Amino acid sequence: MTGQVLCRLADLDATGAKEIVLDRDGARFPVFVVKWGARIFGYVNSCPHARLPLNWRDDVFLDISRTYVFCANHCAHFDVATGKCIRGPCKGQGLTPFPVRIDGDSILAAET
Ligand code: FES
Repeated sequence: MTGQVLCRLADLDATGAKEIVLDRDGARFPVFVVKWGARIFGYVNSCPHARLPLNWRDDVFLDISRTYVFCANHCAHFDVATGKCIRGPCKGQGLTPFPVRIDGDSILAAET
């Protein structure tokens, strides 16, 4: 998976984030990348509260102010840069990082 192109930077323009469903040993492995200023972060799309996908709409992972990653299920808010839950039922827990890197106009998986 390392080095795999996940999407283009421009794919994040509409919502600030993009979900990519990868294949890991034949199983569905959903991750998302999110833009924070000039930086990009990646996380597994699984909320630490109930292990549900965070989003209800395609590629919508940020709250309305685009300040926090947001879980649509029970309104947990996560710091974009660290993935730590700062408000909601899983406060103090965190999203699972999925390291990514930028190469030109593409976002790539940095490691597995
Ligand atoms: S599943 Fe995310 S806050 Fe409950």
